[in-house]
Amino acid sequence: MRKMKLTLLAAVMVVALAACGTKDNNVDPTPEPTAAAQPTATPEPTATPEPTATPKPTVTPKPTATPIPEFTQTFKDVYGEYGLKAGTCMSEFMSNDARCQEFIKKNFNSITFENELKPDYILDQEASKAAGDLVVKFSPATEKMLKWCQDNNMAVRGHTLIWHSQTPQWIFYDNFDTSGNLVGREVMLARMESYMKQVFELLEQKGYSDMFYAYDVVNEAWLDDGTMRPSNWLTTIGEDYLWQAFYLADKYAPEHIDLYYNDFNEQFKTEALYNFFQTLKDEDGNYLIDGVGFQAHLYTKDDMDLYFAHMDKIATLGLKINLTELDVCLGKYNDIGYATDQNKKIQGQFYYNLISGIMERVQAGSVKMDALTFWGFADELSWRQEYNPMLLDRKWNPKYAYGAALLMKEYAGFDEVTE
Ligand code: GLA
Repeated sequence: MRKMKLTLLAAVMVVALAACGTKDNNVDPTPEPTAAAQPTATPEPTATPEPTATPKPTVTPKPTATPIPEFTQTFKDVYGEYGLKAGTCMSEFMSNDARCQEFIKKNFNSITFENELKPDYILDQEASKAAGDLVVKFSPATEKMLKWCQDNNMAVRGHTLIWHSQTPQWIFYDNFDTSGNLVGREVMLARMESYMKQVFELLEQKGYSDMFYAYDVVNEAWLDDGTMRPSNWLTTIGEDYLWQAFYLADKYAPEHIDLYYNDFNEQFKTEALYNFFQTLKDEDGNYLIDGVGFQAHLYTKDDMDLYFAHMDKIATLGLKINLTELDVCLGKYNDIGYATDQNKKIQGQFYYNLISGIMERVQAGSVKMDALTFWGFADELSWRQEYNPMLLDRKWNPKYAYGAALLMKEYAGFDEVTE
């Protein structure tokens, strides 16, 4: 898409990124996201036992939980009023399950594949060895899900090209074999270019390109301390690997696909990310990046003001922002909250305050957002199911979070809440 004036800019980027600092420090306060767990029939956690009280003369009746109705409104309709798509992740399991398919079709108009477009699903080792170049080949699950999205008129967020995780390590080695040595910078840059080119070409050839509106070019490259996360992309190419990734994605992606940087714990990385995004420019000073993915893997005990301060700061760069993997766990990562009615109310309030705060910004024009994606919808299918983070409980009953996500404050858990 753009002319090559690579060398000079790459040199500038090395200096700029070096200023941001690199350090081997892999300690995050939040547990590292891992591949999604297969749904299990985890039993509903029992509510926190009421403290056994010394018998009292009269027993105050416990307030009954606010009844939550069967909602007829859908996320895609509600968010559509603000100009946003409503998204969910979809796993292979969900794509084969009739109940999930129905729920997704009814409620959402954007899909992110939970795993099936990740590097380890689309890079073929044997074919790469045979070709002497990285070979992109979609797995059967990937093909099937692409077809499903097309058949059901879904818009798709591509996720993800460059990542330290769920990436086969053989891609970094001589002859695509980890028993050899890591390749050098030039070889790895050529492989990165071939990889990007093939992904976008393959989507085009197979007739799927048009349904993609955004693509995560890079996932999770920065640590909470503002340094670059160690990975073999960094080791083989060097500190400008991120600029190179956006440069090459911009070169090969069609215009209609927005290019994103996506990360978790985003609100703790504001300065590093803010500075980094400004380095992602071409020779004419135009951004190579279109948007920033806020994964939004949050906790009810997270600080909402801090989250919005981060969003407001990043928005000043003029880039789009998407919420890409929203889920809100009960409690805190190291202080899990039980699925009591009270905790679920607090969760509903959190979802409501977050989403309504975003919509206010979207309407005011201070945040440019075109999609809000949840990382699933039912607790039993969530990768963080022990924290009950989703909108439906384990029996698929709507929680307060569900009313909150529909921006219906009266069902979002605000009644009867004692501060
Ligand atoms: C991260 C990734 C997602 C997914 C989750 C866990 O957030 O970006 O693709 O792997 O972890 O499901």
